[in-house]
Amino acid sequence: MALQEFLDQLDQLVSEAETNFGAAESTDALEEARIEFLGAKNGKLKAVQKLMGTVEKQDKPVAGKTFNETKGRIESAFEVAHARIQGDGSDTERDSQFDPSLPGAGFKIGRVHPITQTIEELKDIMGRLGFSTVDGPEIEDDWHNFVALNIPDDHPARDPLENFYLATAEANSGEKNPVDLLLRSQTSTVQIRVMEKTKPPIRIISLGRVYRPDTADATHYPMFHQIEGLMIDTNVTMADLKSVLRLFATSYLGDDVTIRFRPSFFPFTEPSVEADYYWNGQWIEFGGAGMVDPNVLTAVGYDPEEVTGFAFGLGVERLCMRRHGITDIREFYKNDVRFLAQF
Ligand code: PHE
Repeated sequence: MALQEFLDQLDQLVSEAETNFGAAESTDALEEARIEFLGAKNGKLKAVQKLMGTVEKQDKPVAGKTFNETKGRIESAFEVAHARIQGDGSDTERDSQFDPSLPGAGFKIGRVHPITQTIEELKDIMGRLGFSTVDGPEIEDDWHNFVALNIPDDHPARDPLENFYLATAEANSGEKNPVDLLLRSQTSTVQIRVMEKTKPPIRIISLGRVYRPDTADATHYPMFHQIEGLMIDTNVTMADLKSVLRLFATSYLGDDVTIRFRPSFFPFTEPSVEADYYWNGQWIEFGGAGMVDPNVLTAVGYDPEEVTGFAFGLGVERLCMRRHGITDIREFYKNDVRFLAQF
């Protein structure tokens, strides 16, 4: 076939299609016209495409290019007609297509991170026990992270390998008040901040991030969350500590939880315990607790002869992992929506 003849056929096809699409008054009619011209099997465009094989070899590039343009023009003529029929979309037309009995398409909306959900729930539980929530800074100084908590200079908890130091007093000795700064390694810092500012009685919790240079594995992550509790009054005892922790555990995990204390050591509590929960056939370590050490009470200006108190610090990730049967802490921080969407 001669090139000119082929091009003429293409031209004619465009005007024919435009007329037909333009005349269609309903979706059905337009669909019929679409199949007539653009149908993948027996459409007119397809038929003309077959003729391309009969065009002289040297004319093929022009024929091919024009064919593609033609296809584009016919497709856009269809789009225009489609938009016209669907779309002048008066409300009545759209309303008549609305069937309230069909299930919704469902929006994928964002979710609150499981750790944030846990934090909210823990606040709620402790709130019911009369504990109010306070916040503290994540960048701490030596005094709040160590000294006031009765952690002496040579204590291994101060080791640079155990902490994320940001600046040492030596390094910033040019400053007005040079201090060691670090990302807090525990939320116990908030106990000090609260006691410095408030007179007893005190009943607070604080939830937030803490940082330790641990290598990430299934149970460790260099950043995690703790819930810290502190209660100070004239007659607080170890029995109060145990009751509060038991109530806390049964509220979060269920009535079938048993709690036990194992002797332990923390510089800022005396006596100190490790709190374990028995749940689903297993003893699980949840964190540390104890009666606030008299040295700590003195450091914040309280009289240890007048007031006593307990403190505890539990891992939030651990609680959440137990509750939901999550076996790897790293899942929380991968930002994989397939994981996060389950909560
Ligand atoms: N701060 C301790 C820790 O991070 C936990 C703790 C808090 C222990 C309060 C006793 C009292 O391991």
